[in-house]
Parts: sequence; C-alpha cells; structure tokens
Amino acid sequence: MKRRTFTLGGAAAATALLLAACGEGRTGETGGGEDAGTGFDAGATIGVSLPWLGTQNWAEAQAMFKEQLEAAGFTPLIQAADNKVPQQQQQIEAMIQQGAKAIVVGPIDGTQLGSALAAAKDAGVRVLGYDRLIENTDAVDGVVQFGSIRTGELQGQSLLDGLAERKGDGPYNIELFGGGPADPNAPNFFEGAMSVLQPKIDDGTLVVVSGQTDFQQCATQDWDNGKAQARMDSLLAANYSDTPIHGVLSPNDGIARAIITSCKSAGQDIPVVDGLDAETESIKSIWAGEQYSTVHKPTKDLVAKTVEIISAFQKGEEAPAADETEDNGVIEVPIYALDPIVVTKENAQEVFADDPDRLALLEG
Ligand code: BGC
Repeated sequence: MKRRTFTLGGAAAATALLLAACGEGRTGETGGGEDAGTGFDAGATIGVSLPWLGTQNWAEAQAMFKEQLEAAGFTPLIQAADNKVPQQQQQIEAMIQQGAKAIVVGPIDGTQLGSALAAAKDAGVRVLGYDRLIENTDAVDGVVQFGSIRTGELQGQSLLDGLAERKGDGPYNIELFGGGPADPNAPNFFEGAMSVLQPKIDDGTLVVVSGQTDFQQCATQDWDNGKAQARMDSLLAANYSDTPIHGVLSPNDGIARAIITSCKSAGQDIPVVDGLDAETESIKSIWAGEQYSTVHKPTKDLVAKTVEIISAFQKGEEAPAADETEDNGVIEVPIYALDPIVVTKENAQEVFADDPDRLALLEG
C-alpha cells in the first residue's frame, strides 16, 4: 500500500519563511519540495506527453493544454502515445531534443519512464506528472491529480447509495471491476472503493457472487472497454443465469457503459453502476436513468493547476506548496490534489452549471 503524507501548506510556508529569515535551509525546501530554479524563457517549449486519447479526459487534456499553455505565452508540444510504453519513452526523449523546458507526463506505466526522465533531469528539464503518479524515479518535480484514493472512496460510496436508492433492501449481488493494472491510479481507485465496500461484504450486505475481489482478478488490461465487456459477459453466464445482479463497481465511464451493455444483452435489469470522467455518453445515460453516477474530475482545473506550476518554474519562483506527498519508491513526490465530485441525476445540473457543453446534455 502506498504511503501518503499530508502536509499543511500554511505551516510549511511559514517554516520556509522562518528558515529564509534565519538564512538557513534551501529555498523551497518545505514548500512544494522544489528548489527555486533559474527560470527559463517566457515563450519556451513545454512538452505534454499523454498516455492515449482513448477516454474523453485525455482528449480534453490535449485540447486544454494547447489552449492554456498558449494563453500563458508558452509553445506547446503535445503528443499522445497510444498506450505503448516505448512510444511514450521516444516522445519524451524527442521533447528533450527539441528544447522543452518542462515536460508534463501522464504515464502509461508509472514505472517505465526512469531513463527518459533521468535524461530530462540531466538536461535541466522540469518534470510534472499529470493525473497519474510517476514511480521509481527521482526525476519528477511534482504530480498534479485528483486524489486517487479519494476517487475510489467516492465510487464505492456511490455504489452503496445507488443500491439503497434503486434496489430495495439488501443483501445485494455485486461484481467488481478495476482499471488498467499498469496505471498507478487503478489500484488506488480500487483500494479506495474497497475501503468502503469491504465492511459491507464482511457483514453480508454485499455479496460478490463470483468471489472475485482481488484487484488483479478485477483489473481491466489497458482500460479496454471490450475486455471489460467480455469479462462481464463471462461473469453473468457463470454466476447469474437465474440470479439478478444488483450493482457493479466500475473504475470509469467507458467500462460502466460496457458493463451496462453486457447486462442488457443478458436480459438483466440494469444494475447500479458508478463511473469516472463525466463523459458525454455517460452523462446522457445518467440523465436517462441508466448509469447511476460518475465521478467528475474537471480537466480544465487540472490543466490550469499544471500551467500555474509551470509558470512558477518559468519565473524561477518556488513551486506552490503541495497538498501532500506520496512515496513513489524513490522519493516523496509533492502531490497537488484536487477534489473529485460525484455526479448523479439529482445534482448534475448544479455540478455542470458552469460547463455549458455538459449542461446542454441535460435537456429533455
Ligand atoms: C484516469 C481516468 C481515465 C483512465 C483511462 C486514469 O488514469 O484517471 O480519468 O478514465 O485513466 O484512460
């Protein structure tokens, strides 16, 4: 289990001031964990290496990094790696060659970028993890994400809430799905969800009919919706031919819709299914009363936080104070953690009040 340390931004900042006043300590030692650097050119190239564009959040990130980096005066160099680790390694190496001063990375596999990022560090390039942790390297200046354990807790709680709301009294028959095992978020989402669900499995309120409760059994290779649908088809055929399924834990929206499709073709009533990303198709499904919920992590805010940190690096300022740190196997990485939000049919209009594209899906 990963260890997280929560820091108090205000107290850390006060300590930094005190140390600076006493002429002791390195600048930034207790802030974002970063030394204030010498800064770089205001129009510098900034690399953004995304893992793939297979879910809506990454496609949004691609568009929003372009828009927000340009608005901040930088020259964006944005690439996506189609879920292939060697391709991502090469893209990062090319960004260094092309003179990027900072590189933002959403890793395909959190553990496989060591040498590419070491090369970045040697070249004096700042490295920020985006949405996913970067593991087993000291060549990372921070990670900007929505709390991944928190996301899983919200998913687990929403599944419980939906069961109580839509499926009468328990016990409830459920199945569990996880995301792609190489993605450091996936085990964290699962762990967060299980912290809520396990006590209810233990007291008999929830019954995992297949008995599959380990992350490895429940994971979905490469976050592939087709693989999730095939697993759901098999689970239903093997365990639910004469039993209803009431709920399914889903790590994201694409997998949630695959699960619902599978249940419909097996002739089941639609189970309570949570999700992640507030994707267009899932918002429509929630509004139509099918998918129960999603967890919204507004990409715009995550990109804005990332660009804010890059701007501090550019000016040679100390990075803003991080919210917590996480042991990545080599160092305590400063984590900038934003708060994810659960969305159901009930609160969707309120949550998307300032998001015209999503709000427009809630008509009719
Ligand atoms: C992201 C999710 C996304 C998934 C698959 C995760 O790391 O946090 O938003 O659905 O990757 O792309």
